[in-house]
Amino acid sequence: MLNLGIIGCGNIGRIIIKAIYKGKINCKFAGVFDVNKDGHNLLSGETKKRIKFFDDFDKFIKADTNLILEAASQQAVKNYATEILKHDKNLMIMSVGALADKNLLAKIKRTARERNLKIYIPSGAVVGIDGLKAAMLGGIESVTLTTRKNPKSLGIIADKEKILFNGDANEAVVKFPKNINVAATLSLAGIGFKKTKVKIIADPNVRENIHEICIKGNFGEILTVAKNLPSPDNPKTSYLAPLAAIACLKKLTSEIEIGI
Ligand SMILES: NC(=O)c1ccc[n+]([C@@H]2O[C@H](COP(=O)([O-])OP(=O)(O)OC[C@H]3O[C@@H](n4cnc5c(N)ncnc54)[C@H](O)[C@@H]3O)[C@@H](O)[C@H]2O)c1
Repeated sequence: MLNLGIIGCGNIGRIIIKAIYKGKINCKFAGVFDVNKDGHNLLSGETKKRIKFFDDFDKFIKADTNLILEAASQQAVKNYATEILKHDKNLMIMSVGALADKNLLAKIKRTARERNLKIYIPSGAVVGIDGLKAAMLGGIESVTLTTRKNPKSLGIIADKEKILFNGDANEAVVKFPKNINVAATLSLAGIGFKKTKVKIIADPNVRENIHEICIKGNFGEILTVAKNLPSPDNPKTSYLAPLAAIACLKKLTSEIEIGI
């Protein structure tokens, strides 16, 4: 039986916890750890449920769980990912940008391998990861991500379209750490942070977070566009991202798995 603990009671954490209480995921839920109680207070008010809250990681990690879902921050991945695995718990990561740190990535992969654990990275706010993974086996020529967001979502003011970044995913992760999970997921699934090309455009004419992916290789070409609406209470997070995490949790508990 899946026995879940969550780090981060923010926008993504709350959507996932509500899905658990609505019976959408077949799992037990041990509680949520956060450094700030505001999200938990909001959630308790909305759901009228007594949701177990931890403000101490050491107590949280000793609770009876077999999968910890991180939905907090890149810093949380840096602080806790290895510890979680060392406590023999599987790990699901939302703040994927943290894995641009090669040493951290190598360390958690090694720890997971040694302990026969899994690290899950949901496809997040993007579509096409399944095709990319399959296409990789036949050889890939290029992967390009073009992200178009309203300036407000990028925390800037702009009254006309403006290219904020045009470079590789490695650099994008450093320059846009809060907006780069999609580029990181794409890089990890495909040809890596150095070869994956990223363009970030601020566009006052769009309200969606739009991610276009173009993949070229021996298989042919894939073009995908996700026009994501922001999450109800966090314009920086596309609603599809928590939904992808819920779908990933459901996949772990389903009798039949469809797609890669
Ligand atoms: N994979 C994807 O496609 C994708 C998409 C959107 C967001 N994200 C990432 O998921 C994470 C959560 O997003 P969100 O919208 O829920 O953010 P949020 O700001 O709404 O909530 C984050 C919560 O985590 C808590 N937190 C932060 N650092 C912590 C730490 N070190 N220890 C414990 N608690 C900590 C905060 O107090 C907050 O309550 C972010 O890092 C975001 O960049 C990933």
